[in-house]
Formats: sequence, structure tokens, C-alpha cells
Amino acid sequence: MASSTVNIIPVGGGKGGIGKSVISTNLALGIALSGQKVVLMDGDFGSSNLHALLGISHPLYGFQDLFINKKSPDSLLIETGISNLKFISSAGDNPGSANIDSERVKKVISFIKKLNADTVILDLGPGTSFNVLDFFNMSSKGIVMSSPETTSVMKTFSFVRSALFRRISRQLKNLSALQKLVDHSKPTNADLETYTVATLKDNIKKIDKTQIEKVDEIINEFKPAIILNRVRNKKDLLAGNNLVNLVKKYLEVDLNYIGYIVESDRVRESVEDMVPFLIKNPQSKPSENLQQIIGTLTNTDLHLVKEDGRIFVSKQVRLNSGWDA
Ligand SMILES: Nc1ncnc2c1ncn2[C@@H]1O[C@H](COP(=O)(O)OP(=O)(O)O)[C@@H](O)[C@H]1O
Ligand SMILES: [Mg+2]
Repeated sequence: MASSTVNIIPVGGGKGGIGKSVISTNLALGIALSGQKVVLMDGDFGSSNLHALLGISHPLYGFQDLFINKKSPDSLLIETGISNLKFISSAGDNPGSANIDSERVKKVISFIKKLNADTVILDLGPGTSFNVLDFFNMSSKGIVMSSPETTSVMKTFSFVRSALFRRISRQLKNLSALQKLVDHSKPTNADLETYTVATLKDNIKKIDKTQIEKVDEIINEFKPAIILNRVRNKKDLLAGNNLVNLVKKYLEVDLNYIGYIVESDRVRESVEDMVPFLIKNPQSKPSENLQQIIGTLTNTDLHLVKEDGRIFVSKQVRLNSGWDA
């Protein structure tokens, strides 16, 4: 078995209904079609519905079986009909499962790291609870999503801040006074300029000057990507740049704007039909947008074509990506 580490891509964002699940599903599918071994995992423990997007109506088992039946990680993988793509459900009969405790979070995290896959896409639930943040922080290059509305942009900004502050508080855990500063999970617009990284650093300096270098290190290694979804026009696209600028200005973090997906009936229809849009309509606008994003993530040019009901995949490795137009 390959000993290289799994590339984990958590997908989060402040608000529900911005397309995390539908984009995660199609992203996982597209990366699988490009040749990688992919596991898509439902990380929305409260209201899991990811299986439905793959056309699976009743998953027979889920990750909860880890705790109940002590199953081996690979036995929890569900076939999807796509050879390179496996699925892990979180659908279970436990209504309290949204609030899995930190012990279980740790177990799930070590479980994910042991999966036999090139890439794991982890679709997260809404909000900024510590569960969600700790899953998001499994990688320093997770994906955050937003729609173009200001409320969504602000929620996603808060999500990035909460994830960053959580990183800082966990790595500087001897500073318990900090916990209060960083446990600020529901900031409002009014907090925008008060709870910035600059304020945080000032406060840290008052407690322990020597920690600032470490804080800068944590900030520098945090490089989430952003996908803007439900874009209707050129002006909407600016919301992505706006978010990048806000995050740079107030959090000193470089967000990587990897692309956008248009608002489209093809997406809605695919959800209703329980068939990912990338397979249903590979040449539709949202599919083209997503292929572009997958190309960026995998450093390839991915191109899907459907003929006589069959999908054809062509893929070219980008040799000198630095010189692309
Ligand atoms: N690009 C899009 N165009 C049209 N509808 C979309 C798009 N993205 C998401 N939707 C709609 O939004 C609904 C919610 O998406 P979902 O992925 O479940 O959001 P989340 O996981 O963030 O809560 C989908 O069922 C779909 O109908
Ligand atoms: Mg969801």
C-alpha cells in the first residue's frame, strides 16, 4: 500500500444552502474521473443528505459504526458506481449525532487519515462549532464556499476567522487567557474591525510577547481556497475578490480564489434526479466551471464529454502552469 499521505480537502463555509454538499459531491466525482482514488465523506453529522446526491437512498452503514461495531475503516466505504470513488455516510439513527464529542472527533480524524485514498473530500455541516472547525483544520488548504450575497460573504469571512483563531488557540494552548479572545464564533458586521488579527496580536503581546513569531507562522501556513457558488453575472464575481481582500486586510491570510460556479437549473435538476451534474450534463456551464476548478486543484486540464450516454475523460498535465494564460 502506498505510504504517501492522503490529501484531505475539507469543504466548509459559514452558511447552509450555499452548495457545499452538491459541489463537494461533484468535485469528488471529477477528481475520481481524473484518475485519483477518492473518498467522499459526509461530515454534516446533524442533517446528512450527501448519499442522496450520489443516488444512494439508504446507506447501509456509516462512520458511526466505528464507535458501535468497531469496524475497520475500509469496511465503511460504500461503492458509488464510479470505480475510483467511494463514499462514507454519516446517516444514522442517532438524532444527537450533530454534537459528537471531542473524543469522537479525534477518532474520526485519525480514521480519515488512515483511509486508503489519494484524496478525501470532507463535506462539512454549516456553522462554526468547534467540531466543524477542527475538521476543517485537518488541512491548511481546505475549501471555503460562499455565494455572492453580502450576508454569505460575511459568514464565510467569519468562518475563516474562526478557523484561524481556533488554530492559534490550539497551538498556543498554554495561554488560557486567549481562549476568550478566540472563542468568538458568531461575530457580527460590527465586529469586523474589532476582532482582527491585529487586535488579536496586540492582546497576545500584552500576555506574552514571545508568542508573536509563532502566531505569524500559524497565519502564514493557513492557505484556504475559496469557491464562489451561484454566480449570476459579472458583478457577482466581485464578491469573491471582495472576500479575498477582506480576509487579507483583517486576517492577514491569503485566500486562494480557485474559481466560481454559475447559478444554473442544471444543478437543481441534478439534485432532484439524484445524479451529479458533472455526469448528467458534463458540457453545461456549471460542469465547465467545475472542470476548471479541478484542473487548478490537480494541475491538469480536465475535459469531460458525453456521447451516447457515455462519459469520455481527457486529461493533460499542465507542464509549466506558471506560464498559463
Ligand atoms: N450553482 C447552483 N445553481 C443552482 N442551484 C444550486 C447551486 N448550488 C446549489 N444549489 C441549490 O442549493 C441547494 C442546497 O445546496 P447544498 O449543497 O445542499 O448546500 P449546503 O450543503 O451548503 O447546505 C441544492 O439542493 C441546489 O438545489
Ligand atoms: Mg450540506
